[in-house]
Amino acid sequence: MTVQRLTDSAYLQLVGDAQVLKLRRGKPAILLTSDQRIIKHIYRRSWFSSSRIWPYAQRFINNATLLHQRGIKVPTIHGRYYYPTFGCDILVYDYLDGKSLFTYAQENNFSYLEKTPAFLSRLHELGIYFRDFHLDNVIIHNNEFALIDIASVKCRRQTRGLNFKYRAKNIAHLFSKNEDQEIYRIFGKNNFLRRYVKSANLSRRKTALLYYLVSRYRLKKPPFLPAKTNDLEINDVASQVVSS
Ligand SMILES: Nc1ncnc2c1ncn2[C@@H]1O[C@H](COP(=O)(O)OP(=O)(O)O)[C@@H](O)[C@H]1O
Ligand SMILES: [Mg+2]
Repeated sequence: MTVQRLTDSAYLQLVGDAQVLKLRRGKPAILLTSDQRIIKHIYRRSWFSSSRIWPYAQRFINNATLLHQRGIKVPTIHGRYYYPTFGCDILVYDYLDGKSLFTYAQENNFSYLEKTPAFLSRLHELGIYFRDFHLDNVIIHNNEFALIDIASVKCRRQTRGLNFKYRAKNIAHLFSKNEDQEIYRIFGKNNFLRRYVKSANLSRRKTALLYYLVSRYRLKKPPFLPAKTNDLEINDVASQVVSS
């Protein structure tokens, strides 16, 4: 996809009478146009960031293609721009009509959160690691899980499942998002993990290993390590997950 450089007048034309959904440091971040498209402004990070070499906008586009190929719903991208006045990249893509998992949970509707571990396990089976898997980055669109904000996605080249380290890291990471803490507290982290284990059809041994790794990544230090992984008692390790 070619990058078009926008003059001020071209920018104003692109934006038109779009509604501002989100600002970042007083500047537009997410706009919604009247023809149901999102205009995402991606501000460049520091000079030393890897985004200099491999811009987030490009990662977003590449990931959209990979996720789409693997059957995961993502917005269709219509254009990539650079707007020098704001020093930002701009992506234009479809608005996915629906509500985020966060909004549903806030409305005390946990039905989609109950299905989220199965969706996460499907991503993992497909070799997809979505680092920013937080509840506002998943939209329920036409009753289907869809991902937005996908610049941080990493896909294994061959569609082989993620190894346990990454599965656990991903789960630990999503449990630690400040905005989502309260929701996971109400829903129950063990409830989430139990559902994940069931969907992923894990053996007892692998379940124990997963619980152990999740608790380890959440604590960011190794907890007490029994002599053999086989000796891990699932409930013992689970209690570390909930208590941390
Ligand atoms: N394609 C989209 N469809 C529906 N809503 C979207 C879409 N893109 C963004 N949004 C809304 O805007 C919010 C912020 O967008 P996001 O891309 O996640 O930006 P940020 O990087 O600021 O988190 C989302 O949580 C969602 O509510
Ligand atoms: Mg987001």
